[in-house]
Amino acid sequence: MSRLHETILIIDFGSQYTQLIARRVRELGVYSEIQPFHHFDPAKRDRVKGIILSGGPNSVYAADAPRLDARLLKLGLPILGICYGLQLLVDLSGGKVEAAPAREYGKAELRHIENSILFDDVPQDSVVWMSHGDKVTELPPHFEVIGETENAAYAAIHHTELPFYGIQFHPEVTHTQHGKSILHNFCFKVCGCQGDWAPSAFITETIQAIRQQVGDRRVLCGLSGGVDSTVTAILLHRAIGDQLQCIFVDTGLMRLNEAAEVETMFRDHFQVNLDCVHAGDRFFRELAGIHDPEQKRKIIGRLFIEVFEAEAKKFGNFEYLAQGTLYPDVIESVSPKGGPSATIKSHHNVGGLPEKLNFKLIEPLRELFKDEVRAVGRELGIPAQVLGRHPFPGPGLAVRILGEITPERVHILQQADAIYIEELHKNDIYDEIWQAFAVLLPVKTVGVMGDERTYDNALVLRAVTSLDGMTANWYPMPYDVLGRISNRIINEVKGINRVAYDVSSKPPATIEWE
Ligand code: XMP
Repeated sequence: MSRLHETILIIDFGSQYTQLIARRVRELGVYSEIQPFHHFDPAKRDRVKGIILSGGPNSVYAADAPRLDARLLKLGLPILGICYGLQLLVDLSGGKVEAAPAREYGKAELRHIENSILFDDVPQDSVVWMSHGDKVTELPPHFEVIGETENAAYAAIHHTELPFYGIQFHPEVTHTQHGKSILHNFCFKVCGCQGDWAPSAFITETIQAIRQQVGDRRVLCGLSGGVDSTVTAILLHRAIGDQLQCIFVDTGLMRLNEAAEVETMFRDHFQVNLDCVHAGDRFFRELAGIHDPEQKRKIIGRLFIEVFEAEAKKFGNFEYLAQGTLYPDVIESVSPKGGPSATIKSHHNVGGLPEKLNFKLIEPLRELFKDEVRAVGRELGIPAQVLGRHPFPGPGLAVRILGEITPERVHILQQADAIYIEELHKNDIYDEIWQAFAVLLPVKTVGVMGDERTYDNALVLRAVTSLDGMTANWYPMPYDVLGRISNRIINEVKGINRVAYDVSSKPPATIEWE
């Protein structure tokens, strides 16, 4: 990874919050990079201005605890240890960490007891978020306590001569009232960062890098209508104009009017070379009579590649294939036991293109988090409703129609889904939700409309909050909003006479129903 910017290196010990630390640092305008502890190489610290040691689920005194050797302390770089990171810093410096009598979890009152640059602009008393089972019981030489809570006498510490800091609480979570100021103080006042990480700088540098890499060759880009491929395509178009050819496969399984909206935006608004393949009939033909979820996914995945490949051939030779890969897809994770993680991502990416297509990959968003992709997109002039859109799975509505997929059933679901989403916007709650969608069940139920008995489809509404789609909570939708959505769907969508709301979280349920 090229480091054009001053960097805060975050060493990961397996905390669920590591990515959040990286995002918070970047929100301050400082580039950050995550490295698993077992890959940390003290020799490679080009442009690194400081190191943050993440939290983690282990105990530093355990035999198999993830560790770094004490050379870390001799690099001449500022260090901030968070939770497990604090304990490791203490352990490496000659102090003591032991199991606490009780696990401390949740909010605590932090009180400063010593002046420290880390607490500049942080009030004397403030709320912090704790989550730990071990605690420091003896400080190493030259360290002193700078903050305490009721249950942690060493909640924040610093070295009296060197730029080493440790905090037992988590500044990266929003429950820590002044977490942002603490991270700001570390990055700017301790590490001396200037804050040179901004979307506009990223765009200028990336456009230059793409031009250099691509020269006068041609790039192919598969559009999905989602945020990542949209921003990828527009960025490439800025860099190489007509050397970019985009292909959008309309599987017939998209949301209502989605294919038309993609065409209008890319062709008319951005004047990108776009080829739109309307392949719905073929998808419906091959999906006829298929009920099994895995079989559906396989058929869609295969067809998508076949259609894309055949279409690409019509445009001659391409050297590169552009993909909207993001930073969370390439971070190597640390397993909950502290060791290197075997599986990086559990997700089956149907709707993706296989490596065997034999292109060189170009992935301009590889270093960005989703929030940053949106910020770059805004700067590129991509409409807010496209950038703020909920994620949509590769197989599209096929995984939201249980049982057989037919054009009629897709049409019913599209209409219901559009009403649902429209109401979420109207009630100003769309942006609070990670993903909201409707699911059409293979179940008919009895109803009554006017004086008539009906026997129609049942529909489920799903809405979840999540940080990354790996875990999710069902969204507590206000009853009045639910009532309006249900009313409208049953009245306006022919074929639905019952609406239910899904109150399952992930795990054990998944976000999608198939
Ligand atoms: P689950 O249902 O596994 O979904 O909890 C987690 C996230 O992944 C999305 N998803 C997919 N995305 N191809 C994709 O590109 C797929 O086959 C696929 N299946 C699920 C899902 O919408 C959610 O955001």
